[in-house]
Order: sequence, then structure tokens, then C-alpha cells
Amino acid sequence: MNVHYDKSVNSTQEIAHRISREGAPEGTIVVADEQVAGKGRLGREWFSPIGTGIWMSMILKPKIPPQQAPQLTLLTAVAVIRGVKAATGIQCDIKWPNDILLNGKKLVGILTEMQADPDQIHSVIIGTGINVNETDFPEEIKEIATSLKIEKEEEINRATVIKRILEHFEELYELFLEEGFLPIKKMWEDHAITVGREITARTTTKTLHGFACGITDDGVLLLKDETGEIHKIYSADIEF
Ligand code: BTN
Repeated sequence: MNVHYDKSVNSTQEIAHRISREGAPEGTIVVADEQVAGKGRLGREWFSPIGTGIWMSMILKPKIPPQQAPQLTLLTAVAVIRGVKAATGIQCDIKWPNDILLNGKKLVGILTEMQADPDQIHSVIIGTGINVNETDFPEEIKEIATSLKIEKEEEINRATVIKRILEHFEELYELFLEEGFLPIKKMWEDHAITVGREITARTTTKTLHGFACGITDDGVLLLKDETGEIHKIYSADIEF
């Protein structure tokens, strides 16, 4: 495996985009001890203090149409859930599309970005941020964030967690390339707490209330509103 390590970076996503364009092969992992401008979804910042969490980005170059790239986010969520369970015994849940929750609080965020033409992917950069040994979060996320250390009440070895996640990722990615998304979708559904509930979905343009009735084979969330109309949700913040 090709690993690119830096002590401190703006964002591992930035480095991964750059080295991918320069020819880094599929499977390259970019890891840092600290991000001073960690990127979250929807233009948010990602709290990434030094030495406590896992801040990593993975470069993939799959031969799939660009619209299937979100499936890789769901695949990554399954790999992270399984890796965390294997390394620590802790069982987490998935909140669509890419939040991993522990006891209802956010433990992991996944950010998928692409370099692509309309019909061809050059690379998919999947960034994963995992709160491992943080005990003190900034005021604005104190109530909604947690870490493995807070829940387990002991220091967790970050390298072991990374290793287990990558083992599971490799296995699932091979399955995905051989058999497609369907087997992954089933695994994802086993861990998901979004489907089958009343939810509020806030997209960048509107807020929808209704029943989360499933996900499509492309990983799109289906929401049925009170008139019975089904809405396809591609990206949103979900509240229960
Ligand atoms: C989210 O908002 O839920 C997604 C957060 C993704 C954070 C990770 S940390 C590693 C990688 N580098 C970044 O700048 N962001 C992602």
C-alpha cells in the first residue's frame, strides 16, 4: 500500500487531489496528525486537532460512471463501522448518507470528492475523519460530537483502527468491483438508522419532512411526504 504521511496539513483532501493528479496510484492513502483547514461537507470546517483523531483521504480510480461514485461513500461507511468494531468492540450506526454515530452523537464524517469528466472518473477522493482520542470539543459541537475514547473510557491506538478499517475497505472494494453495489447496499442497510423513520431533510435549497422509505441502488435517499409524493434526496442534513 502506498501511504503519504504528513504531520500537519491544511487538508488531507487537498494533498490527495494534488498527488492523484500527479499520478499517485489507486489505493494511495494520505494521513496527517493535524489538519489546520479540515474540510467537512457543505463547505463546513472539520475539527482536526493534532494527534488525537484519524484524518485520512484515500485515492480511488474505479472504472465506474461518475453518478455511481456516491456508492463508494456508503461502502466506506460500512468499512469504517466494521473496522471500528474489530479494533475496539464498539458498534456504531450509520445516518444517511455518511455520518457514523455512536450513542446518537457524531463519531465519523466522510467526504467524497471527484475529479471527473461527465462520462469518466479520473479519481474519487474519499476523506474520513474519525474522533478517536478527543475529550474536549469546541463549544459549537460539544453536544453533538463524541470520540471512541469518551465512549470507551480508555486511550485508543489510532494505527490499529486505521489498519482494521483498511482491511475491511479492501475486502468490500474488491466485492464492489466484482459484484457491484447490491451486496454492499444490504450491509449498509443492516447498520443504517435513517430508513424507516420520520425525518427532516435539509438540502441546500429546501427542507422536506416525511418518511424515509429506502435508498436507491445509487445510494439516493427516498422520502415520502404527507401527500404521498416520493422525493429523491441526493445530499442533505438529516434530523430525526
Ligand atoms: C462531514 O462533514 O461529515 C465530513 C467530514 C470529513 C472530514 C475528513 S478528515 C480527512 C479528510 N480531510 C478533510 O479535510 N476532510 C476529510
